[in-house]
Amino acid sequence: MQNDLIICNARIVTPTGSTARRGKEMNKLLTIPNGSVAIKGGIITYVGSGKPDVTPGCPAVDAQGKVLLPGFVDSHTHLVFGGFRPDEFIWRMQGDSYMSIMQRGGGIVNTMKATRKATREELETKAERFISTMSRMGVTTVEGKSGYGLNRDTEMKQLEVMRNLNANPNRKVDIIPTFLGAHALPPEYAGRPEEYIDFLIRDMLPEIKERGLAKHCDVFCEEGVFTVEQSRRLLAAAARMGFGIKLHADEMVPFGGAELAGELHALSADHLLHASDEGIRAMAMNNVVATLLPLTAFTLREPYARGREMIDAGCAVALATDLNPGSCCSGSIPLTFALACIYMRLTVEEAITALTLNGAAAVGCADRIGSIEEGKQGDLVMLHADTYNVLPYYTGMNAVEMTVKNGNIINMNL
Ligand code: NIG
Ligand code: FE
Repeated sequence: MQNDLIICNARIVTPTGSTARRGKEMNKLLTIPNGSVAIKGGIITYVGSGKPDVTPGCPAVDAQGKVLLPGFVDSHTHLVFGGFRPDEFIWRMQGDSYMSIMQRGGGIVNTMKATRKATREELETKAERFISTMSRMGVTTVEGKSGYGLNRDTEMKQLEVMRNLNANPNRKVDIIPTFLGAHALPPEYAGRPEEYIDFLIRDMLPEIKERGLAKHCDVFCEEGVFTVEQSRRLLAAAARMGFGIKLHADEMVPFGGAELAGELHALSADHLLHASDEGIRAMAMNNVVATLLPLTAFTLREPYARGREMIDAGCAVALATDLNPGSCCSGSIPLTFALACIYMRLTVEEAITALTLNGAAAVGCADRIGSIEEGKQGDLVMLHADTYNVLPYYTGMNAVEMTVKNGNIINMNL
């Protein structure tokens, strides 16, 4: 792979900076109408309206005025898992609730059983298939969570699968791994949640840290899963060990998750369908990225998170898919754009910031990715059109013509 590329005659559109953009700042994008981008060795070396130096033999693309954006960062997924759960989807359509299925021993524990049985190769092949689909929709970085092992060996297996996928020099996306051992209470620890949290803190986090298998630690902080106190204990310990911290917060009921994220200065709080006013203020004041997952609200028939209000209150909002086998078996970037703009009332500009720079910030990588600027990674998306309004307007349809990863053209959707 050469990792060198020149794209000229593009309508370059990008947020700028190396930290999350908050509140009104989310709406501000830099536009260069007739711009060029040069990438050398995978890194952006030129962005502007002039002519970059061309090394002989460097591949060149004439964008013919089409929109060029930073590669999309899907900052919340569970993409390594065994099995599928279509039955649960049908039960929900018939009136069952996500939590009642989980309380009956289905849900996450159902996928845990399949993931414990699956071989590394099976998990890798399946994750790669998702990655190819995502790459065609413009994703160049994806966060991936463990959380379907709920014991040492299988949590490690999930994280090792992500490490192996990242080791491929021709990879289509980079995976940022997150440890989600506190996704559900495993049957082996029934009635002993404190002991399970002790196990994660004492036996799992140090080994994961030492082996560099995950960058972040996450918890499902929710009524009937892990309490605010248990989540605080786990995340505070993880932060002390140097992990970035993230929470599944206020997804099903108002539970104080957003407030806890503010208190702990978490990188992100995710879902937030039922975040309180106080929680929104806490996230805005403490630079917590509010990661909204509209596909999950859509598939669970739940009300959407208050995205507009969060931005108006000064929050940095990111958008992600939540791809997982249970609550949301979709990694659709096009539908995420549409739902965010139609139902959460984000502007298209805000939605672009949310899926690029703010997604990068939510995974602690905004210094390297998330915008088209010199020194950042050569991860780009070219649309079919000369306006980015097609992103929500082509509802649920792919507006991406070309994906560039580390300076290599990965996909041309013609
Ligand atoms: O983000 N809510 C918790 N975790 C996932 C669902 C996982 C599953 O159902 O398998 C979520 O929605
Ligand atoms: Fe999730």
